[in-house]
Amino acid sequence: MPRQQYIWYNGKFRKFDDVKVHIFTNTIQYGTGIFEGLRSYPTTDNNIAIFRLHDHVERFFRSAQIYMFQIPFTSQQVENAIIETVKKNKLEHAYIRPFAFFEHKGISLNLLGKQMSVSITTVPFGNYFANKEKGIRCKISSWQRINSAILPPQAKASGNYLGSVLSVADAKLSGYDEAILVSDDGYVAEGTGENIFLVSSNRLITPSPEADILLGITRDSLIKIATSMGFVVEQRNVHREELYTADEVFFTGTAAEITPIISIDSRPVGKGKPGPITKLLAERLSHIASGADSKYAQWLTRIY
Ligand SMILES: Cc1ncc(COP(=O)(O)O)c(C=O)c1O
Repeated sequence: MPRQQYIWYNGKFRKFDDVKVHIFTNTIQYGTGIFEGLRSYPTTDNNIAIFRLHDHVERFFRSAQIYMFQIPFTSQQVENAIIETVKKNKLEHAYIRPFAFFEHKGISLNLLGKQMSVSITTVPFGNYFANKEKGIRCKISSWQRINSAILPPQAKASGNYLGSVLSVADAKLSGYDEAILVSDDGYVAEGTGENIFLVSSNRLITPSPEADILLGITRDSLIKIATSMGFVVEQRNVHREELYTADEVFFTGTAAEITPIISIDSRPVGKGKPGPITKLLAERLSHIASGADSKYAQWLTRIY
């Protein structure tokens, strides 16, 4: 029997199956929620640590600010609630999902001044992509990444992900593992829930915010880690054909961690298998997330 899990719901813990919302609530009808995705990892000193808690909670509040939604808790309260939820559920490898949403019923799209609810759910989590270790095969999506004239790409909002749903379906039905979206200018943006990096002549290249990416926290970690390892990291516009000729390509994300991409549009990337720099960076990131490198201690929040 798996251990009973609890959801933090508006300040109180409830049993996992006891949190229910009505079908006619605004967020279910219109996708008006905002959320975050974090991970916890077991540490080498027998603790459990949440990776970059503060940065995720900051982005949660930035998403709310962009949509003019009011989260009825302070960022400190949300941080504490996340720690308490991980502690209560005792999951070493958890995916943590803070969610702010509207429970009122009705068809109005005027949400100004409306009350939000907040929940924090944790689930046991391994690899997001089944083929993570071997590397995945991607397709450039026929759908473009949302842009900020339509929906704010830098907000992690539920409705923003409908484009990702279309792109995943498009990729899967065409026999690929995942999609890569381009911006409306035709530059490479990101995956459906991941940022993307290229390795070319030992340099790392990743699309800049102008390509309408979500500013990923793993992306930021990778830029800092790789720079401190002596790699040159360029943030700039990336043409689609650069993907086809890169030595290595990989995704970064809380769910994806570092996932090698071994082919794009049926063209093998490099030697068609995970490359040495991708592997090196993946090892570094997992070493840091396990608390083994004191230089990055500020990225980890130990729960005990
Ligand atoms: C659209 C999108 N891009 C990129 C990312 C990667 O962001 P992070 O590294 O903060 O998880 C995510 C995941 O949160 C995402 O949903």
